[in-house]
Amino acid sequence: MSLDWKASRSAGLQGTFTVPGDKSISHRAIMLAALAEGESRIEGFLEGEDTRATARIFSQLGVRIETPDAHTRIVHGTGLHGLKGSSEPLDCGNAGTGMRLLAGLLSAQAFDSVLVGDASLSKRPMARVIGLLEAMGARIDARDGNFAPLRIHGGQALHGQVMDSRVASAQVKSALIFAALYAEGETVISEPRPTRDYTESMLKALGWPITFEPGRVSVHGGGRLQAGNIRIPGDMSSAAFLIAAALLIPGSDITLRNIGINPRRTGVLQAFKLMGGDIRLHHERLESGESVADLRIRHSELHGIELPEVLVPDMIDECPIFFIAAALAKGETRAFGLSELRVKESDRIASMVKGLRSMGAQVEESPDGVVIAGGRLAGAAIDSFEDHRIAMSFAVAGQCAEGVTVIRDCANVATSFPGFVELARSAGMNLE
Ligand code: S3P
Repeated sequence: MSLDWKASRSAGLQGTFTVPGDKSISHRAIMLAALAEGESRIEGFLEGEDTRATARIFSQLGVRIETPDAHTRIVHGTGLHGLKGSSEPLDCGNAGTGMRLLAGLLSAQAFDSVLVGDASLSKRPMARVIGLLEAMGARIDARDGNFAPLRIHGGQALHGQVMDSRVASAQVKSALIFAALYAEGETVISEPRPTRDYTESMLKALGWPITFEPGRVSVHGGGRLQAGNIRIPGDMSSAAFLIAAALLIPGSDITLRNIGINPRRTGVLQAFKLMGGDIRLHHERLESGESVADLRIRHSELHGIELPEVLVPDMIDECPIFFIAAALAKGETRAFGLSELRVKESDRIASMVKGLRSMGAQVEESPDGVVIAGGRLAGAAIDSFEDHRIAMSFAVAGQCAEGVTVIRDCANVATSFPGFVELARSAGMNLE
């Protein structure tokens, strides 16, 4: 049965909140702790369906993972060569990160594996990792050469390569890094624009020799990983919905504590500030090597902008909520260079354009972008296309629209932001 939400106008958000742990870091923490030697404690783990799927897969591969309490995992690492093959398919659920990173890691194992995912993940392109992994010596069969299920043939000798990733994608880069840990020699990866560097910094923290700078990484095979403790900050991608709601709803003044502010994730803060948003960072600090801060956000009169394309990779998951802000801002917003949005959990350009138009917004769509005329929104029935970030974006839109907004098929919000409705309501949003 479909899980639908009903949103209506709210009076203003108040209070201090935390959001669940970072999804990207949670996936990587499980993966690297599993490959490390010894016991790692992970705190702030995202209890979402995507990251739990990754933890389940490592249990299937023979890694003992304890859950002493929610948000904590103790991972008994097997070392680089201690994983055991599974006769059952490994189910990544909705998670592109899970599937692509695992494709790299499993390509280097002695055993065969099959990676499967849900309907949405089974439509997302995998050729972007398969081609590059095959250049390193991997063997992967995919449906039509591009889609899950992925059948990964173990027992291949991988060799380091100098590689150009043609898409700015941390998932592609990370898949190659995982393979490179097992490859002979050096692997050098360049990307067209810098993307999030969590795999690189966590590897370094766990003792792997790796050098990286924005847009380029170099890693040698044949090292060892030491177990360690990893504290995971709040996910900027989840925080962005509350940030936008506070900026847009008159009377709002909220604080979000312990949010990860790695520069590869703060594009949305820069975009909102360019629109006139009042967002201040307090208590900037380092936790487990990651920059973290508390954010104070106050209602602001936003105006339209020309989104600098250079910000796009640093706010790739926040584009849907940025579109909502644009639709409610004064004047026109132009945003291009967004073609990657078409291959996310849904085609996020199409999903957003359809929803915004049904709420009365004037939006022009092009293959890689949108032009949005800011103004008012009216309540409507919205299809989330079973995409978590589309659902949460329209939940925020509904707070600023006249009448009632019904958002259909919101169950997948549990993949990244379990407890979103409860948190949004406790902050003052009208959401049922
Ligand atoms: C992620 C990278 C991004 C992002 C996704 C998480 C990661 O995907 O959209 O939600 O954890 O590496 P791409 O690498 O496809 O851009």
